[in-house]
Order: sequence, then C-alpha cells, then structure tokens
Amino acid sequence: MEKRTLGNTGLQVSCLGYGSMGLRGPNTWGVRVVDESSAERVLHAVLDHGVNLIDTSPDYGMCERRIGDFISSRRKEYYLATKCGCDPIQHTGHLEIRHTWTRDVIRRNVDESLRRMKTDYIDIIQFHGGDARTLENAGLIDSLVQLRDAGLVRHIGVSSKLPELNDLIALNVFEVFQIPYSCLEPTHESAIRRCAESGAGVIIRGGIAQGGPEAEIQRPAVNDAWAKAQLDDLLTEEMSRAELILRYTISNPCCHATIVGTANLIHLAENVAAAEVGPLPPKLKQEIDNRIHFADRNSPSK
Ligand SMILES: NC(=O)c1ccc[n+]([C@@H]2O[C@H](COP(=O)([O-])OP(=O)(O)OC[C@H]3O[C@@H](n4cnc5c(N)ncnc54)[C@H](OP(=O)(O)O)[C@@H]3O)[C@@H](O)[C@H]2O)c1
Repeated sequence: MEKRTLGNTGLQVSCLGYGSMGLRGPNTWGVRVVDESSAERVLHAVLDHGVNLIDTSPDYGMCERRIGDFISSRRKEYYLATKCGCDPIQHTGHLEIRHTWTRDVIRRNVDESLRRMKTDYIDIIQFHGGDARTLENAGLIDSLVQLRDAGLVRHIGVSSKLPELNDLIALNVFEVFQIPYSCLEPTHESAIRRCAESGAGVIIRGGIAQGGPEAEIQRPAVNDAWAKAQLDDLLTEEMSRAELILRYTISNPCCHATIVGTANLIHLAENVAAAEVGPLPPKLKQEIDNRIHFADRNSPSK
C-alpha cells in the first residue's frame, strides 16, 4: 500500500490508517458491541494488511486497553495516535464524553494511555477538540511541548473542525491535524489544503463516510448528499459505494492518511484493496466534484 509522508513529522504512514473507535466495547454508546476476540482479530488483521497508523482515544472505552493487550507485542509495526483533554465519566450503562482543558488531565491522559497501550511513547498526541485560546491560556500547548521534549510523545496535533480549526492552524505549533472529510462532506477541503501547505501532516477521519448509503450505521445527511449528486450513476460493477468514497478521499494528495473504522474483516480487506488500487482516475474524480458542487449549488438551502 502507498505510504505518504505525514507532513514535517517525516513519518511514512500508510495512506489507509485504522480508526479504532468501533472497538470501544460495552457500556459506551451506540448499539454495536465488539467482543474481545473479534477486537483482537481485527487489530492483528489491520497490521497483517500493512496498515501502520492506528488512531484511538481515552474516550473510546476499552479501546486503548485492547490495543495494549492484543498488539503491543507488535509495537514496531504501527504509529500510535491518541488524544488528550479527555475526561469521560463512566455511568452504569453508558460513557459520558467530557473534555476538560487542564494540565492535570493532559498529563493523566498521557500517563494512562502509555500504561494501557503498554508502550513508552505515543507517536502523535492530539487535543481531542478544544479552541486555540483555551488551549493556550491554560498552558496546554506548553504541556504537550514538554511531553515531547521528554520523549513521551513524538509529535503534537489536534483533532478539530471548523470554525475552531482556523485559529488552531494560525497558532503554527501543531505538526498534525485530524480533520473530517469525504466527497459527501467536503466542507473542510480548503482547510485541509492550508494545513498540508503549511507543512503539517493531515489525518482524515470520516473518509469513507461510514461506508455510504448502504452502511449498517445510517447517516441521513451522507445518504442525501450521495442521492442528490446521483453518484450511483458513476459506479461500475466492480466498484462499491464505499470504494468510490474512500478512493476519492485518497485522491486528494493533502490527505496523508485516512483512518477508517471497521470491525468487519471483509470491509477491512475491501478498504485495503481500494487503497492499494489508489486514487481515482482524474476524469472520474472531476465528475464527482462537478456533481457534488452542482448538487450543493442547487440545494434548497442556498
Ligand atoms: N473528534 C474526533 O477526534 C473523532 C471523531 C470521530 C472519529 N474519530 C476517529 O476517526 C475514525 C473513523 O471515524 P468514523 O468511524 O466515525 O467514520 P468512518 O471511518 O467514516 O466510518 C466507519 C464506519 O464505516 C463502516 N465501514 C468501513 N468500511 C466499510 C466498507 N468497506 N463498507 C461498508 N461500511 C464500511 C464501518 O462499519 P463496519 O464495522 O460494519 O465495517 C463503520 O461503521 C474513528 O475510529 C476514530 O479513530 C475521531
């Protein structure tokens, strides 16, 4: 699979990464629960396929612990990206996600992530949201720089979206940005270009748009965007909707790694195969752009 340079970090990341949020386990959120043995199988399969970037978070239930238990013996095979600012509360039946922007929480997150994932360094630590002013005023960017100087984290980043993203880019301190993007949700396209042009690494989430309209977990906005742009017309017999969406994302050279979540080994193999085929032919990419922009211009809300 193609490797891309993650901006000035210099990390050579597989263009398809793995988003592990789906491995969060019971008593978190959503209806799907992935059991221990399935989580173990999926994590090993990810590495066996040559995917070398795994994204996680202290907010994802038992996910970090599973990474530590199941694949820490293969730690040299993957770059590990996790998050901080996470202060979730575990209720009896569900996990309440809460972010607290203090030095104590940042430090606790890093210490616990290292322990749970049985490693002595995190390749990429990302603020899990937050805005520039809060992160700066609370001294949290300095905290991450100190953790980097101490070697506990190698690169610092932020997982964000507009409008907060603009001021976060302007700080000029982040080596990596994690941003949502797909042909069905292209809002962040120009911000992604700005990040990449500034020398930062860009990790894309949502780059398969949950698999598209026939996905098990339904997202009406995504389905609508697909239907309005009449993208079914562009599929060939061999190409699934998920493949078209993922290869569109990968076609953007500013998207260095696209972290896709799946707990399904067949989907994982399909995504790897799609990433290996690589970017869409330029004419097809252009036609998707034309249709998405035409549908957007003609949307009743414009
Ligand atoms: N704020 C943040 O920092 C933030 C927020 C959200 C996500 N993330 C990160 O980004 C990662 C990815 O985000 P995401 O999981 O929301 O979105 P996603 O990658 O767009 O979609 C994942 C969903 O797509 C389905 N899927 C994957 N491959 C498929 C295929 N070939 N065909 C059909 N369906 C397919 C998966 O279901 P199956 O299991 O059935 O394949 C899963 O439900 C997360 O795991 C997490 O690491 C970060």
